[in-house]
Amino acid sequence: MRRLALLMSTLLLAAPGETLTGTIVDTAGQPVEGARVRLRTSTAFVLSGPDGRFTLADPAAAPGREITAARPGHIIGGVTLKEGIFHYTLALPAIPEGDDATYPWVTAFPEDDRAPRTDFGREPCGACHRRILAEWQGSAHARSAVNPRFLAFFGGGTDPSFKRDSPTADGGCATCHVPMAGDGDPRQAAGVAGEGVGCDVCHKIAEARPGNGAVTGIRAVDLRRPPFGRQTVFGPFDDVPRGRDAFAPVYAESRYCAACHQARIGGVPIYSEFEEWRASRFAGAGVTCQTCHMRGDGRATTMSDLGPGRIERDPRTLSSHRFHDSRSPDLLAGAIKASLTTERDGRTLIVAFEITNHEVGHHLPAGSPMRHMLVSIEAEADGQALELIDGPVLPHWTGSDLAGKPGRTYAKLLRDLAGDAAHPAPPWRAVVLESDTRIPAGGEDRSTYRFRLEGTGPIRIGATVRIRRTFPAWAEAHGLDIGEIEVARHNLTVSR
Ligand code: HEC
Ligand code: HEC
Ligand code: HEC
Ligand code: HEC
Ligand code: HEC
Repeated sequence: MRRLALLMSTLLLAAPGETLTGTIVDTAGQPVEGARVRLRTSTAFVLSGPDGRFTLADPAAAPGREITAARPGHIIGGVTLKEGIFHYTLALPAIPEGDDATYPWVTAFPEDDRAPRTDFGREPCGACHRRILAEWQGSAHARSAVNPRFLAFFGGGTDPSFKRDSPTADGGCATCHVPMAGDGDPRQAAGVAGEGVGCDVCHKIAEARPGNGAVTGIRAVDLRRPPFGRQTVFGPFDDVPRGRDAFAPVYAESRYCAACHQARIGGVPIYSEFEEWRASRFAGAGVTCQTCHMRGDGRATTMSDLGPGRIERDPRTLSSHRFHDSRSPDLLAGAIKASLTTERDGRTLIVAFEITNHEVGHHLPAGSPMRHMLVSIEAEADGQALELIDGPVLPHWTGSDLAGKPGRTYAKLLRDLAGDAAHPAPPWRAVVLESDTRIPAGGEDRSTYRFRLEGTGPIRIGATVRIRRTFPAWAEAHGLDIGEIEVARHNLTVSR
């Protein structure tokens, strides 16, 4: 009986598609173990054994479909299935050795709109990847080399600026902000380098480590620029058999982002999204930076709009290069929760404001030490602001229109040990972490305000939450915008 059942199940497995077998070899003909073999776009894959052999039973296998094989360190291989042939040998070419620093970066921007393109070695990435180009252009990465706040902090004439302190050094700022300029002066970035964190540099990364000290950005990754006449593009997919694409698992991991989004200088956390994420529940749950910041639109079905090898894919497997940030309503919706409640105690009005970091994958707010969040509370009756008897007020650095008013800030504040109390404190000088009042992932904060009740009319109470990119006094000194975003507003009316 048992033997019969076994026989039947083998027959059932073998019946629909054909069972394919084969061998994965490298360029020298040696077997490759542990390569991921699949029918292109199929969700299931098998691994090749120590002898390079594989057995693939996929009911969707049919002549004309392709099978692909990939292993980190090799170019992805593929073969088109033929009628009546069930055994295949796939060769995985080696990735060109080393990193050729003379490699000229490829631009994102197509010079004109004429297509299709066929040479995919040095053609502008955006000539074919048009949707991705448009998404990336809307992201902060596309402007990192020309962001006026960055340039002012780097080389502005008004104190503090890195170049005023160190006219002959580069500060390593370019390793993250202008990675295609190498170690140079960001202000000199021309041509492709001026594209900031662009397509080509991001897709030449084979492996990455969190940044630390002076080892940050492109110094914290393994760049694999090919020699003249060759092209290698690294990515998250293992089934792109076009002869130059390489599968690198790091693309789907937070570690990838950490080369630039993590750096302590002298132990002080300057950029800290990665370490905060690692300490959060999201790390254990497999929710990566990409899960939230590169979430796809659920509609796109192709990763390239043109070019040989372009195929339809499940929208759920594709991502967005918008790198959703606090300007993206979809990212913020549901991530932050806030509530405003009131209570009367004789001639006192008690206002409580509660804010929860519900679904932000790290501290709230995130980003550079210039970034901060604040809540301001207003209470008035008969057109008259009520007097605050007890509760926190906004500090001087929130600017003349808010300082002293009821409210609270959420910020990572650094202090310049040379004694300068100005914000922002320049992280390239000797600084200490003065305070960190941001809200960790999953955490909440409650502040209470007591107002003296006056007048007879209804009492209007409001709470406004804002995220600002920088400090008003500093922005004004440089003629720049503080980049304020209103994150939430709550209003209540209490009748008497
Ligand atoms: C900050 C680095 C970064 C930049 C800049 C960048 N990419 Fe990506 N790209 C990634 C990562 C990370 C993934 C993997 C996303 C995932 O796994 O969800 C990816 C995925 C892809 C994919 C696979 C398809 C997909 O939806 O995942 C393509 C194609 C691609 N990028 C092309 C481009 C092009 C073209 C540009 C420039 C217009 C570009 N990338 C800019 C990091 C970057
Ligand atoms: C000639 C058109 C064309 C050009 C130019 C082009 N690509 Fe692609 N790219 C494609 C096609 C087609 C695919 C495969 C689509 C698929 O498998 O669904 C692809 C796939 C990719 C992938 C996925 C690789 C993987 O294994 O995850 C990445 C990443 C990528 N391209 C990045 C780039 C970058 C960076 C540039 C510029 C240096 C570029 N592409 C230029 C057409 C192009
Ligand atoms: C080569 C360095 C580098 C890598 C790799 C990188 N980033 Fe960035 N990222 C930057 C820089 C620099 C900025 C700041 C740009 C600016 O504001 O001028 C930035 C900005 C951002 C922003 C917007 C912040 C804002 O102020 O609006 C988000 C979101 C972001 N990155 C997410 C990611 C994610 C997710 C990854 C990994 C998939 C990643 N980045 C990989 C360098 C990098
Ligand atoms: C669970 C979803 C989630 C995960 C995971 C996540 N983030 Fe965020 N991130 C957010 C939300 C929501 C915001 C907007 C609120 C804020 O600015 O703090 C944000 C803000 C940011 C910002 C500032 C952007 C801005 O405009 O204010 C950066 C930079 C950033 N994240 C980088 C990262 C990096 C790097 C990782 C991985 C180490 C990561 N994030 C993981 C949800 C997430
Ligand atoms: C480890 C990589 C890294 C290095 C090194 C680095 N930055 Fe940044 N920088 C970032 C990232 C990532 C962001 C985006 C975080 C955010 O959203 O605030 C950023 C944001 C900024 C911002 C805020 C921009 C804005 O519009 O909100 C300024 C200003 C800035 N950096 C200046 C500098 C200067 C000056 C240096 C050199 C002394 C430097 N950075 C070195 C990664 C880096």
